[in-house]
Amino acid sequence: MLRLQKLSKTYKTGDQALTAIDLDVPKGQVLALIGPSGAGKSTMIRCINRLVEPTGGAVLLDEVDLTGLGPGRLRKARREMGMIFQEYALVERLTVMENVLSGRLGYVGFWRSFLRRYPQSDVDAAFRLLDRVGLLHMADKRADELSGGQRQRVGICRALIQQPKLLLVDEPTASLDPKTSRQIMRLITELCQERGLAAIINIHDVALAQMFVPRVVGLRLGEIVYDGLPTGLTPDKLTEIYGEEDWEATIEKVEDEEIEAAE
Ligand SMILES: Nc1ncnc2c1ncn2[C@@H]1O[C@H](COP(=O)(O)OP(=O)(O)OP(=O)(O)O)[C@@H](O)[C@H]1O
Ligand SMILES: [Mg+2]
Repeated sequence: MLRLQKLSKTYKTGDQALTAIDLDVPKGQVLALIGPSGAGKSTMIRCINRLVEPTGGAVLLDEVDLTGLGPGRLRKARREMGMIFQEYALVERLTVMENVLSGRLGYVGFWRSFLRRYPQSDVDAAFRLLDRVGLLHMADKRADELSGGQRQRVGICRALIQQPKLLLVDEPTASLDPKTSRQIMRLITELCQERGLAAIINIHDVALAQMFVPRVVGLRLGEIVYDGLPTGLTPDKLTEIYGEEDWEATIEKVEDEEIEAAE
């Protein structure tokens, strides 16, 4: 469904953020992208929907190379890719409902959305999504009245109302407490399963990634140094990705949390 071929990005500053990345993501697969700060995780996600322009290689979404598309076709292709951000990127003074509906921008056109005249079918879809994430009762609240976890649920609804095939998720839990982080990761992975959506989730917390996804890709200095099962992330592999560290503690944490989850 998504195929990266020799995807490369060198910023104008000369920073080579990605070096010839090859990656295949089948339909419906959720994977976690891990790696130290500066490894190129955000760059990779942003090159896929061309928020950042790649400097080499190809991004194929259902066989169409996005790197060659002009503005009109790029806009259409972007509808297929929902994005979820660490800082939620909500419009603070708008309501929860309006924020969710803004996900339809790529469909309804500028003036209609500016006048906030969304079709009833979009409003119905927004209510259904808010119900699914447990925020139906908050539809009329302003975004700035919500907690972090609630904001991220709105961010998730806004991405999903686009009816994407692929979710691009950049550090969805980095601003949240551990319990809320787990709830949000669970929600994202469940929704992907329900809707047959593929996702790439950038995440710093290795233990959290291991709990929820079937595939982990490790990035270091712009190159893939691990691609496999979460259980294959041995201390040696983690050292290869992150450098020297005491990984036994992380692995024990996963085991503890698995026991806790089973109880
Ligand atoms: N706009 C930019 N201009 C120049 N260099 C950049 C820009 N954005 C990122 N870089 C560089 O590209 C490399 C990869 O950065 P990127 O933000 O993709 O890493 P990351 O893995 O997402 O890190 P983090 O975990 O801290 O979010 C880094 O060396 C960074 O300094
Ligand atoms: Mg980043």
